[in-house]
Amino acid sequence: MAQSNVKRDPRSFLRLEYDRLVSEDLDWRIRILASSSGPWTIVSGKKVLMLCSNNYLNLTNHPKVKRAALEAIEKFGAGSGSVRPIAGTMQAHVELEKALAKYKRTESSLVYSTGFAANAGLIPQLAGEGDLIISDELNHGSIIDGVRLSRAERTVYKHRDAEDLKRVLDEAELKSYKQILIVTDGVFSMDGDIAPADDIVKLAAQHGAMTYIDDAHGDGVLGEAGRGITSHFRIEGKVDVEMGTFSKAFGVVGGYIAGSADLVNYALNKSRTWLLSGSHPASVVASCKAAIDVVEHEPEHLKALWENTRYFKAGLGNLGFDAGASETPITPVIVGQSSTARKMSEMLFDENVFALPIVFPMVALDKARIRTIMNSGHSKADLDFALQAFGKTGKALGVI
Ligand SMILES: Cc1ncc(COP(=O)(O)O)c(C=O)c1O
Repeated sequence: MAQSNVKRDPRSFLRLEYDRLVSEDLDWRIRILASSSGPWTIVSGKKVLMLCSNNYLNLTNHPKVKRAALEAIEKFGAGSGSVRPIAGTMQAHVELEKALAKYKRTESSLVYSTGFAANAGLIPQLAGEGDLIISDELNHGSIIDGVRLSRAERTVYKHRDAEDLKRVLDEAELKSYKQILIVTDGVFSMDGDIAPADDIVKLAAQHGAMTYIDDAHGDGVLGEAGRGITSHFRIEGKVDVEMGTFSKAFGVVGGYIAGSADLVNYALNKSRTWLLSGSHPASVVASCKAAIDVVEHEPEHLKALWENTRYFKAGLGNLGFDAGASETPITPVIVGQSSTARKMSEMLFDENVFALPIVFPMVALDKARIRTIMNSGHSKADLDFALQAFGKTGKALGVI
């Protein structure tokens, strides 16, 4: 057998790569929670104010959401025992999908194990050879991976730039693509800014393109009763695929798509992440359904979230921080260099505030930041506590 000269060492490359990440300060150092994720949480052995969880409405601790899980376990057991298409679709899954479609005001919906699985499983099925996918340049990694799995041609348009999207669509008219898919985050997870979804659906209609919006950070946060980006822009029924997750404002876990019955029938027959992966335990889907019910019927959580958001953003501004162009409860505190952001996060933790740095390559080299996310369960005193810690550490590091 002919042997190449390449020396392979299947074990040491793991260590070498890890060592590189550590030496470049790019490795994740995982902090461990010893209590539920709430406005205050026990992290690495101490009680800290939580500013980096996506549990926007504090539903992970809501009694109705927790009780639903306990009752479902009693009735349906701990696990589902199968993938959805074989023996893993329980009454609880179907009830959630009905409730979700009603809440999103769409004909139908389909629940995936996670939002990541929805994007990675469905996007490559919606566009293949001879098609084109057009993506916002700052889309979430799960969209990027979904796009990479497709055989379609792909291109990006400038972040949130409808004019640039129009340019790309005009150019696409010169070729004979069978399908064109436009895909964007609704709310961008690093900056908290919102996609111009109203312009996007107009342009898509003019060019016969399909629209796919990932509403992971709009669900439970934007629009009437937190119905998300289509409610925010009053474009209900005009987005072909509304994708979202239960892992953020709904406080549980699970991805979904909502749209026409045709979309759902297509997706469930085509998405390998849905067909070939075990379904949620009934406790998970029962909690998700309870969370939708709470969001719809207890408006106080959403109101508190937005009051806290306005209060905190104003407080950061008064202190002299650059809080970016966010329009949502995701509030980046831009500090400049990666090393400053990392140091500030550590100093905040010493002040009992838990907020993580976001650094290059996730954001530009000089735009490193501490990303904060509001929670409806924070009191004004909590936010003042956080602002004081930001003021103290920001001054110490020369950020303000
Ligand atoms: C914009 C966006 N899309 C998708 C996902 C993935 O959702 P899930 O946590 O349900 O996998 C996330 C979560 O990080 C996200 O921020």
